[in-house]
Amino acid sequence: MSNQVEGHNYDGIEELDNALPKWWINGFYLTILFAVIYFFYYVLGDGPSLEKEYQRELRAHNYMTATQKSQSQVVSEDDLRALLKNPTRIEAGKEVFKGKCASCHGEQGQGGIGPNLTDDYWIHGGKMTEILTTVSAGVLDKGMPPWGAVLKQDELHAVVAYIKSIRGSNPPNAKAPQGDLVQE
Ligand code: HEC
Repeated sequence: MSNQVEGHNYDGIEELDNALPKWWINGFYLTILFAVIYFFYYVLGDGPSLEKEYQRELRAHNYMTATQKSQSQVVSEDDLRALLKNPTRIEAGKEVFKGKCASCHGEQGQGGIGPNLTDDYWIHGGKMTEILTTVSAGVLDKGMPPWGAVLKQDELHAVVAYIKSIRGSNPPNAKAPQGDLVQE
């Protein structure tokens, strides 16, 4: 690289106009490219905000802890369905529901702050295993608390059975359907 002398010379100190090193220039262009992509994705586009990413990770974490706890007894849809034939377990689920869930989902599951749980419309899936996942992991950014670490496994299963048992019960003042129709 030859030094380009600008012609200014002060007390023996010359001003040089050297070409910038290639790696530096390329690095500079990369930062511009990065800024453009960042701007379009995160500022104008729908790139997730920090808040959203945090909520997503928290949900994954809660789900992991909830499922890790139950790892020893992974339940199948059939296991849960079997509870529907067991009135004692459904009754136990009803107690849990009254104590922990009715404040948001209504005394009869008709909905309130949370969705109506008696209709065939589900935001997060209507299979019993899916309901179990929703109840365990919660939907924090929508105001549904995670119950996986609060309730015992059999309480979780019982409350899911209770929810299934009130399907189609048509309670008064039911909240309008939310989510997708799930045919059974
Ligand atoms: C603080 C209020 C609150 C409490 C307490 C609460 N929920 Fe929820 N729940 C919600 C909200 C809000 C939603 C909707 C989440 C969404 O929009 O994604 C919801 C969603 C759900 C769903 C998913 C519904 C669907 O359509 O997919 C289920 C199942 C559910 N709750 C069960 C329960 C159970 C069981 C309990 C008690 C152990 C409970 N909830 C306690 C507020 C609550």
